[in-house]
Amino acid sequence: MRQYNFDDIAPRKGTYCVKHDMTPEVFGTDDLLPMWVADMDFKTPDFILEAIRKRCEHEVLGYTFAPDGYKMAVLNWFQKRYGIATKWNRMRFVPGIVQGIAYALQTFTRPGDKVLITTPVYPPFINVPHRTGRVFVSSPLKTENGRFTFDFEDFERKAEGCKLLILSNPHNPGGTVWTKEELSRVADICLRKGVLVISDEIHADLTYPGFRHTSFTTVSEAAEHNSITFFAPSKTFNMAGLASSVCYVADENIRKEFFGFLDHNELSLGHIFGYYAAEAAFAHGEEWLQQLLMYLQGNINAAEQYLKEHCPEITFMRPEASFLLWMDFRAWNLPQKELVRKLVYDAKLGLNNGTDFGAEGEGFMRMNIGTNRETVLEGLRRIAAVGC
Ligand SMILES: Cc1ncc(COP(=O)(O)O)c(C=O)c1O
Repeated sequence: MRQYNFDDIAPRKGTYCVKHDMTPEVFGTDDLLPMWVADMDFKTPDFILEAIRKRCEHEVLGYTFAPDGYKMAVLNWFQKRYGIATKWNRMRFVPGIVQGIAYALQTFTRPGDKVLITTPVYPPFINVPHRTGRVFVSSPLKTENGRFTFDFEDFERKAEGCKLLILSNPHNPGGTVWTKEELSRVADICLRKGVLVISDEIHADLTYPGFRHTSFTTVSEAAEHNSITFFAPSKTFNMAGLASSVCYVADENIRKEFFGFLDHNELSLGHIFGYYAAEAAFAHGEEWLQQLLMYLQGNINAAEQYLKEHCPEITFMRPEASFLLWMDFRAWNLPQKELVRKLVYDAKLGLNNGTDFGAEGEGFMRMNIGTNRETVLEGLRRIAAVGC
């Protein structure tokens, strides 16, 4: 078996990369360790880079539609990993998942319509509806046994009158892998209340051993016919700079409307490198992914151990998927603005501000540990140095 080396990360500064090069705009300073936006510092796997290089051997990069090899690789991955046996006619390319969600909002809602989200949540779930004149309705998540779960009573009440639910499955920022039972209850409520479910499954492939990702569409036949599901290889294989996401719609009527919107607006033609990169990822990525997850689990364990020893009042929700730590700084008892200032200017550490994920994020910050272990420990040392 080939061994991949995740300690060996490439320097990214100076590559117009958001995480390392946009810190002056976002934090007001360049002098910090960036552990915020959700891509990883690991090298994109060589079999993906090789596929792009190979395509360049043909020296024309013209308009290109989905190649057969790409479609086959996506369909195999869906069958094997999510238990979805399907055909390509139920899928469409979308350049990014946030864009896909924005297209779904345009297709199925109008300004003034209510859109349900469960907070804290990935900020575009709040911002995209809000900025496009929809009214977002938030049902706060509960924490039980160290993980998020739904407050079903509140969720049901809030679902009344909403047109659409945007669900992070698995959840960002908590890393929660929703169980089939949780998703079934969400599906039942949404069906009863006439709420269409948008399931964003971008973090699905980063589910850790011991947990099982359930694609919303596999929960029941009724759920399948009341949902649009988005997937992407971008987080998993660290290729977020390439447009390579897909949406899956099982229901013919929803498909007609949504794919109609994409086709009428000329949004369905993909990205040449996105296709070849995604094909390589799905065809050859299993072993790399397994090793990545082991490495990331090692990072999570190291972070837990470090905080326990050096800064026990700061804890985090142990993620069941993905490389994001939802860190609880409430023990410092600081107003959010001061917490952010202290981390940015005293600790020189760039984390995501908890309140960007909703009001429930007060006292919390999100740390990205998709980097080598030494960087994770350095980030934690910076926290310990200013707080404990
Ligand atoms: C839940 C979730 N959805 C979507 C995205 C971004 O997806 P895309 O780059 O495909 O728009 C992220 C990135 O962090 C995410 O966490």
